[in-house]
Amino acid sequence: VPTVGLVGWRGMVGSVLMQRMAEEGDFARVNPVFFSTSNAGGAAPVFAGMSGEPGALRDAYDVEALAKLPVILTAQGGDYTKAVYPQLRAAGWDGVWIDAASTLRMEDSSVIVLDPVNRSVIDAALAAGTKDFIGGNCTVSCMLMGLGGLFKAGLVEWGTAMTYQAASGGGARHMRELLTQYAALSGAVEAELADPASAILEIDRKVIELQRGGRLDASQFGVPLGGSLIPWIDADLGNGVSREEQKAFDETNKVLGLRGEERIPFDSLCVRVGAMRSHSQALTLKLTGDVPLDEVEAIIAADNEWVRVVPNEKEASMRELTPIAATGTLQIPVGRLRTMAMGPEYLSAFTVGDQLLWGAAEPVRRMLMIATG
Ligand code: HSE
Repeated sequence: VPTVGLVGWRGMVGSVLMQRMAEEGDFARVNPVFFSTSNAGGAAPVFAGMSGEPGALRDAYDVEALAKLPVILTAQGGDYTKAVYPQLRAAGWDGVWIDAASTLRMEDSSVIVLDPVNRSVIDAALAAGTKDFIGGNCTVSCMLMGLGGLFKAGLVEWGTAMTYQAASGGGARHMRELLTQYAALSGAVEAELADPASAILEIDRKVIELQRGGRLDASQFGVPLGGSLIPWIDADLGNGVSREEQKAFDETNKVLGLRGEERIPFDSLCVRVGAMRSHSQALTLKLTGDVPLDEVEAIIAADNEWVRVVPNEKEASMRELTPIAATGTLQIPVGRLRTMAMGPEYLSAFTVGDQLLWGAAEPVRRMLMIATG
């Protein structure tokens, strides 16, 4: 049983990862050594399927201890990767590094892992001696889990995504802040809400006053999200593009193994909305030809075992194509599929995915199994 080092298992992504590993029986397939950035010497956790003594937590900054392991998986975040990864490689460590953070994603030496979509890219990299396997941006991974079939069939000439991204993409504190804002907003008009005869415009006035007044805690997002939206995610690259939008182009192509001139133009406009942990996106794809809709649906549905084509009807869309439907599941619903008014090659689509599962934990969990399998 191969020994693997686990770092960042206690944060939000890490917790989802541990839960998934326990559910899948992964702890019987690997021998985990738990590291901690804050509690070295404390008791290591116990998860279903583990055998043997859990032992003590190791120091996640102890490069010598890390370097003894053939495989390390981290969900500790980018700052940890920046601090520790270069030291490990400088010390001559040539083990497999599996990482949920974006730090190493676009390095030539790394592969972005999303094996239901790019297993061939992963296998070729393993054969060529690649050691760095990095989970992709959540929006990109969820989009490719849904629509990857069309990309792989060479049917996409270009694409654009308008995203509706959940609070969880910011982190655990962002999710709490969103709920706190909702509570404060409804609390401010509690009496009016209890009285069906109260004036809606008075309710609306009080809500906007609170949203604009600077008293709503918005320390995580910077501005109130509850009852509003934020049309900018991640850093401002200074050219009108957000880092999240740049990732959509860079990472979509890297996942697919496309370089230089082969790359598919893919652009997006990324927006934060008041959803909890599932990212949604509305896509326009220009197909390379006039592909009949039933063929498009069949290609999407056949790509992997998690994608679900939702009929383009009101009832099904309202029930099956929402963050509420997707959250906590590995299913990737794809719906609103239709040809657009611009012409038969223009395809409209809407897809949703759990940002913590396929968007973060699941690709790296699966890569751990591939690397140790
Ligand atoms: N950048 C993403 C977001 C999460 O803020 O929603 C990480 O992929």
